[in-house]
Amino acid sequence: MTDKLIIFDTTLRDGEQSPGASMTKEEKLRIARQLEKLGVDVIEAGFAAASPGDFDAIRSIAEVIKNSSVCSLARANEKDVRAAGEAIKPAKKGRIHTFIATSPIHMQHKLRMSEDQVVERAVQAVKWALEYTDDVEFSAEDAVRSDMDFLVRIFDAVIKAGATTLNVPDTVGYSIPLLWGDRFKQLIARVPNSDKVIWSTHCHNDLGMASANSLAAVMNGARQVECTINGLGERAGNASLEEVVMAIKTRRDIFSCDTGIDTAQIVPTSKLVSSITGYPIQPNKAIVGANAFAHESGIHQDGVLKHRETYEIMRAEDVGWGANKMVMGKHSGRAAFRARLQELGIVLDGEEAVNAAFARFKELADKKHEIFDEDLQALVSDEEAAQVSEHYRLVSMGAHSETGVLPVARVILSIGGKEQQADAQGGGPVDAIFKAIEQIVKSDTELLLYSVNNITSGTDAQGEVTVRLAKGGRVVNGQGADTDIVTASAKAYLNALNKLQAGTERAHPQV
Ligand code: KIV
Ligand code: ZN
Repeated sequence: MTDKLIIFDTTLRDGEQSPGASMTKEEKLRIARQLEKLGVDVIEAGFAAASPGDFDAIRSIAEVIKNSSVCSLARANEKDVRAAGEAIKPAKKGRIHTFIATSPIHMQHKLRMSEDQVVERAVQAVKWALEYTDDVEFSAEDAVRSDMDFLVRIFDAVIKAGATTLNVPDTVGYSIPLLWGDRFKQLIARVPNSDKVIWSTHCHNDLGMASANSLAAVMNGARQVECTINGLGERAGNASLEEVVMAIKTRRDIFSCDTGIDTAQIVPTSKLVSSITGYPIQPNKAIVGANAFAHESGIHQDGVLKHRETYEIMRAEDVGWGANKMVMGKHSGRAAFRARLQELGIVLDGEEAVNAAFARFKELADKKHEIFDEDLQALVSDEEAAQVSEHYRLVSMGAHSETGVLPVARVILSIGGKEQQADAQGGGPVDAIFKAIEQIVKSDTELLLYSVNNITSGTDAQGEVTVRLAKGGRVVNGQGADTDIVTASAKAYLNALNKLQAGTERAHPQV
């Protein structure tokens, strides 16, 4: 008999706390649909009290997701809990996840509350949450640096109040597997009625041990793992879903539990999250990195050819590699296009949006004759970006580079319906384009990151560009895709400027 290990995905909440990774409602909906297809048990869709935009996104996700529970985070105060409760109301299965810090350092310096006050608030928050759902999770923030006796006391109190899942976070990524496993063993042994609740682990990756720590917790009784796709998340990120799930699946000999994840959906989900957030995946990243299943050395290649298991502990196809079939080309019609979008879980808003996306598809198919799923995802992202308040719109652009001559670029932008043109020189064509845009926009932003990735292989592949800009303490990522990487760069830069212009302020849950 194996236990069920609950996979709680927090890509849309903790993942979104990565610098510049904030997503639009449409982007979140696309990821949520894919997470449901992947088979995650709980989708933490956001932090409802952060902003009206966050609230709206959670509500929309709660309206469409049927197989996974939809959860909202809430600090342990009445306003947050009620916002979370309202946001998850349409969900078939809804959860409220409330938390308060329990370590001396957080209680004294951040909350300025005594232990008694913290326990009272936690209990009260659980009771407010129970007015909306009977699926209530409580987290003791910074549990890793909390006193064990105090953790036992607060967990006992929230179980009595009705919490059904108890989450133990390593908020600052401080633990190591041996100690983290031991923490679970002790808590489960000491907290009264610990067998009536699900114990959950939530680990950050500051010392590179988030997945290892999560697995140590599972070996000591945790039956929920909180994780994100590609390990996205605050600072060094969270435990990565793909690593945890594949460790459990590959080492069935040592774990007495199993997940409900359809592992063949791992790579498509990873690519979608990377493309939407603009966080590229390092090639040597476990499971989802481009080299994760590539054998370079002759000895390894020889071994794999003779007997695959000599050097492979997992099969690439089991995690979804090789699934990017050539789907369409220049002669594909609207019906095939629509059907493929549907299979990818992409829902466009009305006939006009389908027509616009189809027109873009035809343009792309003229430049690139094999269109893959990843191209379609990028195309839809571009289409959605164009619909999100396009204050600055690219009318046309050109760039010229030649050996021995300084590259030059010309750009024409439409700003509030009025066209403006600028010419600039730069170290390269991308630099020249950005300078030309800046001559018009004068954004006063700082460029934190510029990266280009090929979406598929081949020299006719689309380049996907991410531009991260900062201004006045705000950080945004802009994305653009095109077979011409200079055009993709201009699109990404303008996308970031438009996001800054839209300026939706959000509160951070842990502040
Ligand atoms: O890292 C953390 O402690 C969190 C909590 C809100 C669960 O993200
Ligand atoms: Zn966290």
